[in-house]
Amino acid sequence: MIIAIDGPSGAGKSTVSKEVAKRLGFSCLDTGAMYRSVTWMALANHVDLDDADALSALARDNAITFGRIPGDPMPHTVYIHGADVTKAIRSREVDHAVSRVSAVSGVRDAMLIQQRRMGMQGNYVIEGRDIGTVVFPDADLKIFLTASDDERARRRVVQNRARGVGSTDFASIRADLCKRDQDDSSRAIAALKPADDACRLDSTDMSMQQVIDTICQRAQCVDRKGVVQYDVS
Ligand code: DC
Repeated sequence: MIIAIDGPSGAGKSTVSKEVAKRLGFSCLDTGAMYRSVTWMALANHVDLDDADALSALARDNAITFGRIPGDPMPHTVYIHGADVTKAIRSREVDHAVSRVSAVSGVRDAMLIQQRRMGMQGNYVIEGRDIGTVVFPDADLKIFLTASDDERARRRVVQNRARGVGSTDFASIRADLCKRDQDDSSRAIAALKPADDACRLDSTDMSMQQVIDTICQRAQCVDRKGVVQYDVS
């Protein structure tokens, strides 16, 4: 079974995905971490961010892997060629460049294949921007999670503080989030938008617990589509 959780930055997708997966006994896939990893590689290797071919080759030729701790559905570590990039992919430099890198079609094609291969291995909660629209259009349950700009920025401050990475300045975080959402929503391919059959959840005035309960209740009611074979060639 696949539960797709899409939505803008800071809407609470990671917290919600992890807790929903824990309750249902599923695994989690954070597809944003994959785009961040490609962006980190591009910056570390001084790849021109306007060079779509070079970015696509980076995405195609470098498998991104996740380290898991038994009992925790959310991967604990992100690796590229054995190097731990878990913290590095949350830097401000990556924040600023990731929308440009993730708008490149060759990068998205490479990520789509890796995401489908992982998701088809079992029961997954997958979070991103285009999971319900492009990557898993037959997902059993699609959630589009939003919250007001202020609330999203406030949550990202708390998250960065807890992770010990990235900025904790509310105003700059809010500006960054809004800019990234604008870029992600207006790009030509796989833009951030709800799938027609997505359930839209505005979490501004909901506790995370309420959001998690709502999604779990819906998951118990859906008609499972069974194993859908997606193209991974
Ligand atoms: O969820 P996040 O903030 O870590 O995502 C980082 C960036 O990756 C975000 O600006 C948009 C991009 N992204 C995407 O284009 N498609 C996805 N499925 C997930 C993330």
